[in-house]
Amino acid sequence: MYKIAVAGTGYVGLVAGVCFAEVGHQVTCVDIDEKKVNKMKSGVSPIYEHRLEELMQKNYAARRIEYTTDYKSAYEDADAIFIGVGTPEQTDGSANLSYIATVARQIAESIKKDCLVVVKSTVPVGTNDKVEQFINDFLIHDVKVEVASNPEFLAQGSAVIDTLYAERIIIGTESKWAEEILMKIYHPFKLPIVSVNRRSAEMIKYASNDFLALKISYMNDIANLCELVGADIQDVAKGMSFDDRIGSKFLNAGIGFGGSCFPKDTKALDYIARQNGYELKTVKAAINVNKEQKTMLVKKARKRLITFNGLKVAVLGLTFKPGTDDLREAASLENIPLLLEQGADIYAYDPAGAGNFAKIHPEGKNGKGSITYVSNIKHALEGANVCFIFTEWGEVKAVTPETYEKLMRTPLVFDGRNIYGVEEMSRAGVEYHSIGRKASARSRKTVREGIGQIASNKQPIRQ
Ligand code: UDX
Repeated sequence: MYKIAVAGTGYVGLVAGVCFAEVGHQVTCVDIDEKKVNKMKSGVSPIYEHRLEELMQKNYAARRIEYTTDYKSAYEDADAIFIGVGTPEQTDGSANLSYIATVARQIAESIKKDCLVVVKSTVPVGTNDKVEQFINDFLIHDVKVEVASNPEFLAQGSAVIDTLYAERIIIGTESKWAEEILMKIYHPFKLPIVSVNRRSAEMIKYASNDFLALKISYMNDIANLCELVGADIQDVAKGMSFDDRIGSKFLNAGIGFGGSCFPKDTKALDYIARQNGYELKTVKAAINVNKEQKTMLVKKARKRLITFNGLKVAVLGLTFKPGTDDLREAASLENIPLLLEQGADIYAYDPAGAGNFAKIHPEGKNGKGSITYVSNIKHALEGANVCFIFTEWGEVKAVTPETYEKLMRTPLVFDGRNIYGVEEMSRAGVEYHSIGRKASARSRKTVREGIGQIASNKQPIRQ
């Protein structure tokens, strides 16, 4: 078993550290934030992630994992140091590598024995060559150090499972020595390992993420066309999915991809291409489609209602996907301001992300509109004029079509996640708009109470 240090306790670093401990390695997680370190020592996870806290507590009790701010003692005698610090996007789309550079210098100043430094963070192709050079430049002791690339493919919400049962481990090394250490570290996981050179490993991460982003944008593009020609994107996706070459995953049309990876990694690869004098047309298209897709639903609703002024607007889901409290690049971040500036009185529900969202948009009056956070979907829907679904939380999926009809003043639902069947919503009397499918008929209650009294749009809804 190896003595492993992990730099950074975000999604990538902490999950990797805990999983290394889980398979028997001796792990020390390093973070500069003392409060966070104390929290982790007391068994509390700084992030919302299924099974993480349980495994943190189990491995801490077994003394296989510890947390510290003292990077020197963590790095000095480590066999391997994994770097999992952030590489945030800069305004030009490039990755900010300052956290990686700081950790690299700390490593150079601390290590007292031969050590493999493994970069898990997503970095532009060729960065790890520079990291290796940088560490060697600043080395204090006469030791051997090499840098390997080991990109991470975990998805938020299933990070622990994705790591323990990954479909593949990618290792990018430039020597047999480095390759063997990584092979041994990952041996207890009993997973397929793809061993390539360092630059290919760096590229595999971008190429994989951007391919998935492209797949989503492609389906969103097709969905928009489906609406125009009267096809149903869900039926289309189902038909496509039987072809093994296409596969059945990541074919869900919606309000665009968000999160910490796809938006950042598509822009980063586009930037890398431009830096190399190449135009990556496909990835650029994925970025552009996604940008438009994010606000499509609210724009559609605006066409229908003309204005949101004075309307009670229920918003179900704020996070970029279910199972996380993360709001990064979530569609809600773009759509809520659009609703507020039009005077909407928003009642927002999210089982995990409401607290974080309130830090950006505090409860109360907000511009022309207002926002209230509710812990119960019923409170959001009661008396609402319109409902938006931004995240397909289980709790939201559990709401029956009849509930909208019963609770809302005007049962008008704009669903960015295609949770419901068009027919079932129509049968329940809900006017239902989704992505890439026809809108359901105007409901009895909508007609009865007359949505036209709130908004003057008399356009018939497409059946
Ligand atoms: C992703 C990758 O899945 C993971 O391998 C990588 O390491 C990091 O980026 P994550 O960002 O956690 O993980 O979430 P993911 O489940 O992939 O979803 C990303 C976004 O795409 C979400 O906003 C989601 O709603 C959206 N999405 C996903 C769709 O709109 N349609 C789909 O079919 C799938």
